Amino acid sequence: MTDRLKIEHLYKVFADRPDSALNMLKRGATKADVLRDTGQVVGLDDVSLSVPAGAMYMIMGLSGSGKSTLARCVNRLNEPSAGRILLDETDICTLDEAGLRDVRRNRISMVFQHFALLPNRRVIENVEFGLKLRGMSSANRRKRAEQVLEVVGLTRWAQKMPHELSGGMRQRVGLARALATDADVLIMDEAFSALDPLIRAEMQDELLRLQRTLNKTILFITHDFQEALKLGTRIAIMSEGKLVREGTPQSIVLQPGSDYVAAFTRDVDRARLFNAGSSMTSLVPLIRRNEFVVLGCEDDTAGSAFVVDDEQRVLGVLPATKVGALRDGGPLPALSSAFACVPAQTRLIDVAAQFTRAETVGVTDEMGRLVGRLEAGQVLARIGSHVVNGASHV
Ligand SMILES: Nc1ncnc2c1ncn2[C@@H]1O[C@H](COP(=O)(O)OP(=O)(O)OP(=O)(O)O)[C@@H](O)[C@H]1O
Ligand SMILES: [Mg+2]
Repeated sequence: MTDRLKIEHLYKVFADRPDSALNMLKRGATKADVLRDTGQVVGLDDVSLSVPAGAMYMIMGLSGSGKSTLARCVNRLNEPSAGRILLDETDICTLDEAGLRDVRRNRISMVFQHFALLPNRRVIENVEFGLKLRGMSSANRRKRAEQVLEVVGLTRWAQKMPHELSGGMRQRVGLARALATDADVLIMDEAFSALDPLIRAEMQDELLRLQRTLNKTILFITHDFQEALKLGTRIAIMSEGKLVREGTPQSIVLQPGSDYVAAFTRDVDRARLFNAGSSMTSLVPLIRRNEFVVLGCEDDTAGSAFVVDDEQRVLGVLPATKVGALRDGGPLPALSSAFACVPAQTRLIDVAAQFTRAETVGVTDEMGRLVGRLEAGQVLARIGSHVVNGASHV
């Protein structure tokens, strides 16, 4: 996948003359060292990351860790002190005023926590506002605004004033306004953080639904790890202006790498986060004949093996003790049907019940082909919380 946005060694020091602070940071000083010695506040300290086109990329971290500073550097609401921000091939840091205006109007749009709606304009006028700045004719503006209001489900509210709407609806207007410009990069800074939990969950679902058709590149800032897990294809975790961990939600929960990150992952519902495909053992062909293939585990620890047809669909299972005779050329014994199969994307919480029906659980791909097997012990280990030095981390 191509990278839509690439941030390279980005620094932000809130100061007119950041040179000595930058030198300190490059020699390994911390944000606290810089504040003590220079009185200057570090916002970002050598942040590098790549956002693939179409990703829902989450920036996570405690308050003050630099999330908003990073988001604001991307469209230069904050001027970076050093580093590069590549939008496709263009370095945003070197754009002149006209270039920057073009990027802000056509390429990157922002959704804020507190909506930032114009209070004296109707909903539809709020949505049209960015289009007017782009010089779109008034008839086209209206048409486009009506389209995006429909997308976010607010058609009937087009003529209302912002104060007549609930918080969740106002945030939909904010979203509609960002979508109206056709910008392919959306930056959402704590966009759902001010909403009630139920409305917030609804907006998250809505964003996931929209993203399936819009396929924008979204940089989503949140201090809520659960939100990051739910929405994110990748998560970057920040602390003290530095990026301390980056990866897929699953990899971060499995290998937090530091106590700071582990603290976020502690309450995660792993049974819903991990699926069968990410928890399975792969299978190898133990015996190949014209009419069937026996698939088992390499180390042969499992009590049974799967027998599949030439399209890798399961015919049945075989006790491991019978594999030897078959390997020596014996006939195929009667197969047992005491097994279950689940699709790879099945969440572990739904897999668990399969073990009450059968000891042997296979994992299939979207074509119904057997791609692996699940061991009850492995599933439990994955669902249980992170273990450090043999002790459960609770
Ligand atoms: N305009 C500014 N002038 C000086 N310091 C600033 C400015 N904006 C942010 N900072 C500092 O930069 C650091 C990072 O702030 P930032 O707002 O990016 O954090 P954040 O992760 O978005 O926090 P929150 O979760 O509270 O929104 C903080 O130490 C903050 O005090
Ligand atoms: Mg912030």
